[in-house]
Amino acid sequence: MRRRPPLPKATDPAGYTPANDRGDSSDLGPTRAAVILPYQRPRTGTLGAAVEGAPRAAEARLAEAVGLAASIGVTIVHSVVHMLRERRPSTLLGEGHVETIRQAIEQHGITVTVVDAALSPVQQRNLERAWNCKVIDRTGLILEIFGERARTKEGTLQVELAHLSYQRTRLVRSWTHLERQRGGFGFLGGPGESQIEIDRRLIDDRIIKLKKELEVVRRTRGLHRRQREKVPYPVIALVGYTNAGKSTLFNGLTGAGVYAQDQLFATLDPTMRGIRLPSGRLAILSDTVGFISELPTQLVEAFRATLEEVAAADVILHVRDVAHPDSASQRADVLKVLAELASGPHPSLDEAWEGRVVEVLNKVDLLDGADVPVSAPGSVGVSALTGEGLETLRLVLDAKLAAGLETVDYVIPASDGARLAWLYRHGEVIARDDDGEVRVTVRLTPADRARFEKAEA
Ligand code: GTP
Repeated sequence: MRRRPPLPKATDPAGYTPANDRGDSSDLGPTRAAVILPYQRPRTGTLGAAVEGAPRAAEARLAEAVGLAASIGVTIVHSVVHMLRERRPSTLLGEGHVETIRQAIEQHGITVTVVDAALSPVQQRNLERAWNCKVIDRTGLILEIFGERARTKEGTLQVELAHLSYQRTRLVRSWTHLERQRGGFGFLGGPGESQIEIDRRLIDDRIIKLKKELEVVRRTRGLHRRQREKVPYPVIALVGYTNAGKSTLFNGLTGAGVYAQDQLFATLDPTMRGIRLPSGRLAILSDTVGFISELPTQLVEAFRATLEEVAAADVILHVRDVAHPDSASQRADVLKVLAELASGPHPSLDEAWEGRVVEVLNKVDLLDGADVPVSAPGSVGVSALTGEGLETLRLVLDAKLAAGLETVDYVIPASDGARLAWLYRHGEVIARDDDGEVRVTVRLTPADRARFEKAEA
């Protein structure tokens, strides 16, 4: 599992603080959460097979939602699918379900409930009241994840923009709802109306400012290239669908004993870790936000922006769950989004990205002896869970990084141990001749070569 901070301040669009969430959860241990999937069977008219397959689809979908919720640092103590016969406007779920869930919430001491559906502001508020706990819907959950994972300036701005747009609708509609309830009091103008106006204006002002900032960030896109040159080691970025096994692979490749406590990497972001490849080459493995099916449309831009760190990567490691029934379409989706990052008026990925992809066919242990479907040349079958294939993957990564290296000869005074050490650290020294001065033949990335030669001048 990823190392993530405890839950959220943010996803509380209506400003609601449940009575049992007094901000002292640190004394009570991790936040206890439930994940509920309201599931509607495909209607008549769809193929019989689809209807029969529905419960399985629901289970897979629930597993995905649990995985997503766990990734914001809550402990899931209850998860369940509720088959929906109809969508109730007031609470989405039927009365009976609302009550069953209320009992489970009480019994398990749950303070946050994730409902894996799009809830209207009114539904969210009604459920919070009925259950006396915080309710997060699918959009809110995904925003939370993006918020934690955004690394670049553009990513952070884009996620804030999406969050504000989400908040704006909730703010207005849930206040309207309150106003309707308070209607009978007859206070002049009502206490809420002017406040809504003010809040809405504040949000609108911030949205305008964010959009301007985004425009500036996009115009100075060249910065990314410079950032890439600043990173001291080649970067390998993991991409893939949620649940494909990125975190497991991240841990498998970098885990305890592999390259745990090197000082060189001590200051790295927790989603980045150093690895040493079989040749001795050091690289940085960078975990990115997972692709999510049925991404709410208003979050698409935010999602793309959080993927920007891929732009700084020397190798894009595409992790696939080959045992998943939708594996092929998930692959197509990932490649489509990457292709979009490389096109359009503000491309963040250069055109040669396809040459930097290594496809990892994960979860081969679940294939029961069936052949691993090979879809891309040079793809590697692994099981991040059992460790099968990881050695081969390390060799492939090494070779991929080496393919972009240049071979250079340098003559260095014997007294200049620091420069020699730098070459050993950053490159692959393939020949060395000590004869008063040191002649070395070394393989370096073009960026390292430029760096070394600049420092020499
Ligand atoms: P997100 O954080 O949601 O993007 O997911 P992820 O891609 O990081 O997936 P994660 O590593 O959290 O793995 C998802 C689930 O798949 C977990 O239950 C893992 O234990 C399981 N898993 C990962 N790799 C393997 C594997 O090789 N074989 C099997 N059987 N299960 C695996």
